[in-house]
Amino acid sequence: MKICMIGTGYVGLVSGCCFADLGNIVYCVDKDKNKINQLRKSITPIYEPGLDDLIRNNHNAKRLIFTDDIEKAVKESDVIFICVGTPTKKNSNSVDLDQVLSVAKSISKYIKKYKIIVNKSTVPVTTGDQIERIINKKVKSPLYDVISNPEFLREGEAIRDFKYPDRIVIGSNNKKIFKKMELLYEPLIKKGAKFFCTTRKGAELIKYASNAFLATKITFINEIANLCEAANINVEDISVGIGSDERIGSRFLRAGPAYGGSCFPKDTKALVSIGDKFKSNLSVVKSVIRSNNNRKILLTKRVEKILNNKIKNKKITILGVTFKANTDDMRESSSLFLIPYLLKKGGIIRYYDPSGPKKEFKKNKNLKFSNDLNKACIGSDLIIINTEWDEFKSIDFKKIVKKNNFKIYDMRNLYNPIEMKKKRLKYFSIGR
Ligand code: UDX
Repeated sequence: MKICMIGTGYVGLVSGCCFADLGNIVYCVDKDKNKINQLRKSITPIYEPGLDDLIRNNHNAKRLIFTDDIEKAVKESDVIFICVGTPTKKNSNSVDLDQVLSVAKSISKYIKKYKIIVNKSTVPVTTGDQIERIINKKVKSPLYDVISNPEFLREGEAIRDFKYPDRIVIGSNNKKIFKKMELLYEPLIKKGAKFFCTTRKGAELIKYASNAFLATKITFINEIANLCEAANINVEDISVGIGSDERIGSRFLRAGPAYGGSCFPKDTKALVSIGDKFKSNLSVVKSVIRSNNNRKILLTKRVEKILNNKIKNKKITILGVTFKANTDDMRESSSLFLIPYLLKKGGIIRYYDPSGPKKEFKKNKNLKFSNDLNKACIGSDLIIINTEWDEFKSIDFKKIVKKNNFKIYDMRNLYNPIEMKKKRLKYFSIGR
């Protein structure tokens, strides 16, 4: 098929490359000319393992075309995916749909023969209706259908998630579309993905409900971890004990810092706002948001306690500052709360992250990036493991810190507390 992805952000670029890899001709469109020029040289604007190769191979095979010419891309394609950003509006929980609606307007100018317009951006329930109304001003409906096909890609695992999805959700009010979309996704369905068809509004809500449920699961185990710390129980036993019940499931039960990223914080807020619009009180989601925000404060207080409330002039090393491992994404990372707090209290911070230094942390004499894990740890009073990169999983702490009496706060439970005790390390973790 001929496909057009509008927006070469995370979702559009990864999905576009993967569709091309399945043998489709894919136009990846972006209004940012500089980005398009870089992509044409196979320079990837985002950090995603495996993406460079996918871009290079499919670009060389001429299945993947990068362009800023939306008119040509729309005219040439049978299926048009809208993959632009849907940030939270300033000073409110609701979603800013400006980019989605402006893309809909642009598309409407170039529809001369039948097109399926697929919304992949995460959008509030009834946005499909809004897109349809905009397009309908220029083109009448037999010439197009607007459907919803939410993405469930995790950063760092996005290519695997695209190629081996648990499910593919298609929401359309016109049932005839389902067969056409099934054809597009056939290679993935053959590998076992569930192909689930519903209404357009149903698909829009599935995306938010999925992310809110996962955020709830994490928040739940994080609160249970607090209880475990107070009652001297190992939270990992609880995760295994409850997760083995198939009704609960074992994934997303790893206790840790407050969840972050570009989706969970934004989508939980958006779901509450959708609830408000329909006068439906989503009290569980509201308390998840509150609990997750409180967690940032709670763990910062824990750091203070570990240092006996004496942060001033303490050398603190943070290992990993992104919202999770295998990404360079800083959005809503709990480190954005933790590091400024520790700096304010007089801590001397060094951080190391495999994805490099971060523009969010401006140069400061007490805050430095180190491009070497060992150098970042030497002479530290406290090492905080904030994300779960593989290279943090087997550190010989004594060898690299070269000092007595340092402490380790492992916020991702990467080490075994009994082993750490045997090594006479002052080790603290989450819910254990
Ligand atoms: C998420 C969804 O998983 C994906 O389906 C959706 O489309 C986009 O949002 P992503 O934001 O890439 O993906 O991150 P994810 O791996 O889900 O993790 C989100 C946050 O939860 C991270 O801060 C992570 O550290 C945290 N987390 C995850 C936990 O604390 N414990 C867990 O068990 C799992």
